[in-house]
Amino acid sequence: MMLSQCEAFYARYEASDGTASVRRDVSHDMTELTYEILATTLFSNQIVGEQADFAEDVEKLLNTMGRVDPMDLLKAPNWIPRIFRLRGAKVMKKFRKLVGDTAEERRRLIERDPENAPRDFLTLLLQAEGPDGLTAEEIEDNIITFIGAGHETTARSLGWTLYCLANAPHERALVEEELESVLGGETQPPPVEWLDLLPRTRAVFEEAMRLYPPAPSINRAAVQDDQWGDIKIEKDITVLIMPWTVHRHETLWDEPAAFIPSRFWPENRSAMHKYQYLPFGAGPRICIGATFALQEAVIALGVLLRRYRFDMAPQAKHPWPVQKLTTQPDGGLDMLITKR
Ligand code: HEM
Repeated sequence: MMLSQCEAFYARYEASDGTASVRRDVSHDMTELTYEILATTLFSNQIVGEQADFAEDVEKLLNTMGRVDPMDLLKAPNWIPRIFRLRGAKVMKKFRKLVGDTAEERRRLIERDPENAPRDFLTLLLQAEGPDGLTAEEIEDNIITFIGAGHETTARSLGWTLYCLANAPHERALVEEELESVLGGETQPPPVEWLDLLPRTRAVFEEAMRLYPPAPSINRAAVQDDQWGDIKIEKDITVLIMPWTVHRHETLWDEPAAFIPSRFWPENRSAMHKYQYLPFGAGPRICIGATFALQEAVIALGVLLRRYRFDMAPQAKHPWPVQKLTTQPDGGLDMLITKR
């Protein structure tokens, strides 16, 4: 599914007037690509209502989800309304209905024609529904969480990888060489094997996530008083773990600000501490979609970089990273995409 979505996607980089290059906001494009991959793998694009409306609702949901409200920072009492929470609740209600209707439609299809129901994430969840399994509400929760957690994050990391490679032509050439030697033959290996077969491609993605972690901070609220070294942590205090800071810390990394993918080549990884690199978090709440995201990224990069070269557009402003839930390039990624 991932491969066919990526292959359907790259056609938009074919210039309609026959010129070799197109100029696009690649950050926006990656958002569309990862959305298309999620919509296919989660529910085979069988969404109740219009696909475009659904994509728009996802966008609105992400814009309101997890947003820090100034009233919270000011520790305002709970009875003071929070504008983002109100807006978020309205979008969530609409979105939940859409997801609920989509699940209901699939339930009917499975009942009518179980043999021909798509074998996607939604069908798997519905098969786990029942008195000893998941409730209908939990199924909706799972779908909403997967969309919320798996869409923006992967899009941002793909965009930053293309940006880093545009600024490191030598590293890009190494990836192009690897892609040619593994995928350039008469028969291509099955896409499920690409992650293992393309360690250089995986390494550029991981190094880009070190410099630009899609989730730059991870938040926890203390459930009880605690002590960490000399620091007293009071109940209800919010503790932030900042992958952004850990990933760029001078005591942990040589040349922390430089893009050096070889740090992540398999032969060099053993030198890395378990908690030195946290793009997917750590511990019991570690990202459940990490392998999904890595596989998706390597397939997307494999398909795109074999056909196109991504450079910053002439006079393009280098993007300033801003934290808006994820690490986003302010103003997008203005790039020139040239057929190889
Ligand atoms: C490059 C892409 C991704 C990054 C950087 C990322 C990052 C993270 C991080 C840092 C956490 C931990 C949050 C915390 O501890 O508070 C997390 C949790 C989670 N992620 Fe991802 N994620 C990515 C892709 C995905 C994908 C593709 C999916 C699903 C298809 C997904 C689903 C989830 C879920 C469900 C959780 C919550 C797990 C739990 O609380 O038990 N993520 N992710």
